[in-house]
Amino acid sequence: MQLRSLLLGTASALTWVGASARLLTVPTTPFTETGGTYDLSQLTNIVVDSRYADKVDHDSQTWIPPTLQQFAETFQEDLKSALGLDVQLTKGTQRKPNTIFVTLGNNTDFKDAAGRFTSEGYNLKVDNRGLVVTGASPLGAWWATRSIIQAAGSGTTIAKGSGTDAPGWGTRGAFLDAGRHYYPPDFLVEMCSYLSFFKQNTFHVHLSDNLYNNVELYSRERSLSLAAAFRLLSDDPAVEGLNRHGANESYTREQFEHVQTQCARRGVTIIPEIEAPGHALVIVQWKPELGLEDLSMLNISHPDTIPTMKTIWKTFLPWFHSKVVHIGADEYDSSLISDYTRFVNEMNTFIRAESNDRKSVRIWGTFTPEEGANVSKSVSYQHWDVSADKPYYDYIENGYNVLNSDDYMYLVGGWSNSFEQTLSKSKIFNGPYGKPYSPIIFDTKNKGDNPPRNNPRVLGEVAALWNDYGQNSSTVLQAYYSWRNALPALADKQWGGNITEKEYNSVFDTLHALVPGQNLDRSIPSKSDTILKYTFDDTSNTVVDHSGNGYHGTVHGCKISDSTLHLADGCYLETPLGSKGRDYTLSFRVKPTSSTPGTLFAGPDSTFVNGNGTITNATLISGGSPYSLNYTLPLQQWTDVSLVGNGNKTTLTVSEEGKKARTMEFLAKIGVNGEYFVWAPVGVEAPLARIGEGFTGLMQNIVLKGTA
Ligand SMILES: *[C@@H]1O[C@H](CO)[C@@H](O)[C@H](O)[C@H]1NC(C)=O
Ligand SMILES: *[C@@H]1O[C@H](CO)[C@@H](O)[C@H](O)[C@H]1NC(C)=O
Ligand SMILES: *[C@@H]1O[C@H](CO)[C@@H](O)[C@H](O)[C@H]1NC(C)=O
Ligand SMILES: *[C@@H]1O[C@H](CO)[C@@H](O)[C@H](O)[C@H]1NC(C)=O
Ligand SMILES: *[C@@H]1O[C@H](CO)[C@@H](O)[C@H](O)[C@H]1NC(C)=O
Ligand SMILES: *[C@@H]1O[C@H](CO)[C@@H](O)[C@H](O)[C@H]1NC(C)=O
Ligand SMILES: *[C@@H]1O[C@H](CO)[C@@H](O)[C@H](O)[C@H]1NC(C)=O
Ligand SMILES: *[C@@H]1O[C@H](CO)[C@@H](O)[C@H](O)[C@H]1NC(C)=O
Ligand SMILES: *[C@@H]1O[C@H](CO)[C@@H](O)[C@H](O)[C@H]1NC(C)=O
Ligand SMILES: *[C@@H]1O[C@H](CO)[C@@H](O)[C@H](O)[C@H]1NC(C)=O
Repeated sequence: MQLRSLLLGTASALTWVGASARLLTVPTTPFTETGGTYDLSQLTNIVVDSRYADKVDHDSQTWIPPTLQQFAETFQEDLKSALGLDVQLTKGTQRKPNTIFVTLGNNTDFKDAAGRFTSEGYNLKVDNRGLVVTGASPLGAWWATRSIIQAAGSGTTIAKGSGTDAPGWGTRGAFLDAGRHYYPPDFLVEMCSYLSFFKQNTFHVHLSDNLYNNVELYSRERSLSLAAAFRLLSDDPAVEGLNRHGANESYTREQFEHVQTQCARRGVTIIPEIEAPGHALVIVQWKPELGLEDLSMLNISHPDTIPTMKTIWKTFLPWFHSKVVHIGADEYDSSLISDYTRFVNEMNTFIRAESNDRKSVRIWGTFTPEEGANVSKSVSYQHWDVSADKPYYDYIENGYNVLNSDDYMYLVGGWSNSFEQTLSKSKIFNGPYGKPYSPIIFDTKNKGDNPPRNNPRVLGEVAALWNDYGQNSSTVLQAYYSWRNALPALADKQWGGNITEKEYNSVFDTLHALVPGQNLDRSIPSKSDTILKYTFDDTSNTVVDHSGNGYHGTVHGCKISDSTLHLADGCYLETPLGSKGRDYTLSFRVKPTSSTPGTLFAGPDSTFVNGNGTITNATLISGGSPYSLNYTLPLQQWTDVSLVGNGNKTTLTVSEEGKKARTMEFLAKIGVNGEYFVWAPVGVEAPLARIGEGFTGLMQNIVLKGTA
């Protein structure tokens, strides 16, 4: 479907009043059509205005803002990858026919919801000579490029006309709990690409936390060994022992730099959070003398507590490039509010001084001024729960700026008895009061307890995904699926767009297919539903792919005969593929000839093993967590096997010789606060890169399909 036919101006007779219309992008782009379309395939160049090529946006949230030229370079890559357009990138001082001229300018309409100038605004003009992008800043120009790619949709034409656009709020995006669940650096980068396509500029990453310290149940010893993590890995002796995880569960300075730079390239700022004085078990595990009776909380009166937190921040502040850093400060002991105030204020003073006032501090809403908290007005609040505070009265009216992360949009990975696992489109479009959600809705029960839309102290909204039940409750990519279908809709509301649910549903798949700089779906281009088919009817080292896609494999040391791959002595079959995401069916015949455990399939996101050395169970491993079936492949006999990813369910169907086929589901066994276990579905990507390494036995007929 061509998006140009979906312009609201022509689609809705009820609300359309002559000149007022918009492009059906996400967020919607205000745009007045002048009639006709321009075909982007006529473009020869992106021309960056040489007067501004080296300018950066000093108002944005990052200290590493790209120049106009750098944003244009990324845009050039995206035109190629998303729309298949090969366009030169040049500099000049004026537009030429069949170019996208990218410049800066000051239009008085670049206003946020409070009526203030915003550097994220832009003007987009399309006429028969091509396109002109005029950004209020390079970042504004970047957002215009997202509108262009989206407006082209599945074709290459865009309606002629022009429009001026600007976000209502300056902080828009998502929050990820990477403290209780590790996410690889490249996952964070791909998520930034996803957010950026929908004009979200913030990815808040929670870098330290612990599982709930159930003081009713746990001994001191058990608390001290409870899962807790500090994800930054430094070799500075000042923090030696703080991070007890391996490099595969941490971010080195180089990796964190990579994440921040790659995200900044697409206009997304990483906001780092190191949590204290609550949720700080990892610090107490490092220095047990600093804990309160509940060891997940720091004893602020201990003379070494604030100095320890200052040491941590002093070590890591130089790693961070955001203008705001988050020090946590939620869910602390309510009998210690004055300690809490002192902690926040001392850390605020320290971080400001240490960063030469280049960084400000944000905390979670927890204790209100009415309850006696008195933190500096230069600290901003991030509201998350109306049982903790009423942001309008408690903070805004007391002169604090507030970011909205209300638990209306709060998700918990894998399972929760109070929160959802998947962002709800219906909550976004209908809101708590029958209108679309908006960053000003802090209180979803009492409408009157929310500020007006133009209140200047509302910073924006960030939707949170927590991992209360730790690493093994969900896979890495489940976090993406929690957001995939609905976060772009929320991005529309965070910006101040007005797409309807029906319109959104009509364009989502088209837009999703265009998102550059990521392959979170782990999709594989294929001519038909059969993505890969190895029948082993040739005995050479190249295994021919009979799908027609040409994904031929290479055998490393294994023998092939009688249409059979003979796996032994560490030999393996290598494919040019990595992973396949939802949905898929990976089927094969297998005959283990030894009980030695081995890998059946391995890929970058998962591994499928036939036992691990201790157990013989068929097991998928993803994100370091094993998901085992109550099943072992029988020795010395052929079994037909299908590994199936169907939505967030992953199953194995086995058909042993002479027996009826049966299907089993891989499940996460989630430990809930040390009290009980629940079983929840896990979505695991199909592992495809290497087949059979370490496995001893025979395999035949390996087929991957793109449906479940
Ligand atoms: C949506 O917003 C645009 C301006 O961005 C306005 O012209 C249009 O009337 C609005 N449409 C609806 C349905 O509210
Ligand atoms: C536009 O005006 C703003 C606010 O006065 C200023 O910060 C910015 O540098 C100006 N931009 C351009 C491109 O002149
Ligand atoms: C907190 O530290 C202070 C000062 O060292 C100490 O007097 C107090 O007992 C500690 N509190 C707890 C609960 O350990
Ligand atoms: C809050 O802190 C400020 C700044 O230190 C101080 O002037 C004010 O008196 C304090 N307010 C209360 C109620 O303690
Ligand atoms: C699995 O998918 C269903 C249906 O989409 C959804 O309701 C559920 O929350 C998902 N569960 C997890 C763990 O993602
Ligand atoms: C194999 O898996 C089981 C169950 O998850 C685990 O207890 C055991 O430690 C694992 N063994 C090895 C060698 O990884
Ligand atoms: C990191 O490596 C350790 C040791 O091999 C392993 O136990 C853990 O599961 C790995 N973590 C991840 C997230 O892969
Ligand atoms: C394995 O069997 C146990 C006991 O019947 C059951 O609780 C568990 O859910 C099963 N595991 C899976 C992955 O189905
Ligand atoms: C392995 O499978 C057996 C049954 O075949 C089951 O009793 C055991 O709990 C399974 N182990 C794991 C770690 O799931
Ligand atoms: C998952 O982690 C929890 C701790 O959060 C632990 O109690 C449980 O045994 C783990 N499950 C598996 C299958 O490893």
